[in-house]
Amino acid sequence: CGIIGILGHHEVAPLLVEALKRLEYRGYDSAGIATVSKGVLDRRRAVGKLVHLSDLLVHEPLAGRLGIGHTRWATHGAATTGNAHPHRSGPVAVVHNGIIENFRDLREELAEAGITPETQTDTETVALLTRMHMERGMGPHAAAIATLHKLEGAFALLWIFEGEDNLMIAARKGSPLAIGHGEGEMFVGSDAIALSPFTDRITYLEEGDYAFVTRAGVEIFDQAGVVVHRGETKVDRSATQVEKAGYKHFMAKEIAEQPVVLGDALRHYLTLDGVNLPPELDFSSIERLTLVACGTAFYACSVAKYWFETLAGIPCEIDVASEFRYREPPMPIQSYALFVSQSGETADTLAALRYCAGKVAKTVAVVNVPSSSIAREADLALPILAGVEVGVASTKAFTCQLLALAVMALKAGRDRGHLTKVQFDGHLDTLRAMPGLMNAALTTADDIAKLAEQLAEAQDILFLGRGPMYPLALEGALKLKEISYIHAEGYASGELKHGPIALIDRTVPVIVMAPHDKLFDKTVSNMQEVMARHGKVLLVTDGKGVASAAEGTWAHLRMPEVAEPFAPLLYALPAQLLAYYTAIAKGTDVDQPRNLAKSVTVE
Ligand code: G6P
Repeated sequence: CGIIGILGHHEVAPLLVEALKRLEYRGYDSAGIATVSKGVLDRRRAVGKLVHLSDLLVHEPLAGRLGIGHTRWATHGAATTGNAHPHRSGPVAVVHNGIIENFRDLREELAEAGITPETQTDTETVALLTRMHMERGMGPHAAAIATLHKLEGAFALLWIFEGEDNLMIAARKGSPLAIGHGEGEMFVGSDAIALSPFTDRITYLEEGDYAFVTRAGVEIFDQAGVVVHRGETKVDRSATQVEKAGYKHFMAKEIAEQPVVLGDALRHYLTLDGVNLPPELDFSSIERLTLVACGTAFYACSVAKYWFETLAGIPCEIDVASEFRYREPPMPIQSYALFVSQSGETADTLAALRYCAGKVAKTVAVVNVPSSSIAREADLALPILAGVEVGVASTKAFTCQLLALAVMALKAGRDRGHLTKVQFDGHLDTLRAMPGLMNAALTTADDIAKLAEQLAEAQDILFLGRGPMYPLALEGALKLKEISYIHAEGYASGELKHGPIALIDRTVPVIVMAPHDKLFDKTVSNMQEVMARHGKVLLVTDGKGVASAAEGTWAHLRMPEVAEPFAPLLYALPAQLLAYYTAIAKGTDVDQPRNLAKSVTVE
């Protein structure tokens, strides 16, 4: 979920909606705002995308120069208007990101005091508790603090109060919160991106902090209630521009942009004869690497594992953040832990990073948003330089994550004497050629659009790959299910015969991702096993692969040739296009598919 608060000079409703647009990446199940106007507290809420809230505000405008807003990704309670934020009880309105874990106990306490909740949400208990304290004689400040002391879980909260035209209370525990400084105006938001239309002067609250915000400024207190000073940083506002630039969908634009953004990232990371990485990132005496992420970023880590092992001979462990954080994995001090995240705000990845802090030689963030929580908390942050990614299904961030990880694997290979200079230079040349190869790969879009008409009819689709193409098969399947809602699975080609082959019949398309590399013949054998059972194979390969194995397949797509082991960077594009055009054929909401959020800021 995303939260925003504004204490301004102007009517805040349109400004709140504008900020929420920038927070929609955190969820879009419902949205709402509340304001205080001449002392009167009121709110508007609507189910679904933000436009429904905008429509409502046209018919039922909301006045006021102080307000809070929220865009929701449902956790407790369905996406209904009643469950939408802000939650109100009497003189109190609250917006909340995160989860109040002890809300059932708190509801019982409230019931004992004769107070009955109206919604199923955890957030409403915050409003009810604050109101209860106020009815017992506390002022808003004391009531908010007393409530805060009762709450367990990870959350960010904003309160406003009837009769208070110049007060907002903010609290952070687990979930990030940024305070923006204006000229006689103040802002609070889940991240700096939400605040970028208003200010570039940001103060980040630290763990356990709470703050009293008025137009005159902010007073911040730590967990113990002691006044503290938290520094101000300037964020780059140009990095937050978002336009579709003539494309029908952000996803189409972001797929097409890949040769350009990858070129930018290459210019940043490659020098004439080497790589440009911070010198303190020295892999020579590192015993192990741990890569942790969620979703698509996890598949980027899964590809990179092959690279770190084969190019640098470094033991490499990968895990999804939600599992890693609770496994209590032992971490050798002589190791680096890498956290890969487009948004840099994913709650589980952030928690995994916090688990590793102090246990390893270095925590390294690989992120797209440099002002993000993960970037700020890691010892070292490397940008992937993909530019703003809006489509919920990650595309250009994935390939830029792969590039940053590939460059690191090559440096590790040199640091550890695992690669000769000649081999290293050869790999750099392969990476340098990638934007050109990607342009060639994009020319298959029309063919893919035609194939997608038929893929859209399928109930289930399988993706197969071997070596570093195996995680790419997983990513291809994820992309497809995210936006077309077709059930899809990725398998390691060699694993197919151990179970999944039972699914094969004439109706199941099997997409085989197989560049003509040293594992090609093995993958082709697995493909033959599928064809022998009448499976409908789409072979994605290069010219040599087409010549030797396309016969008898349902269809094939020809990619340019690319040297090992970097084919996943290139083959990501047909995987993305297959998902995109299948979704178009099915008529789904490509940029904001159902039930998903671009970044999940709750665990
Ligand atoms: C969400 C998105 C995925 C994304 C994952 C991790 O689930 O829907 O597309 O890969 O979060 O996001 P991050 O911002 O950490 O890369």
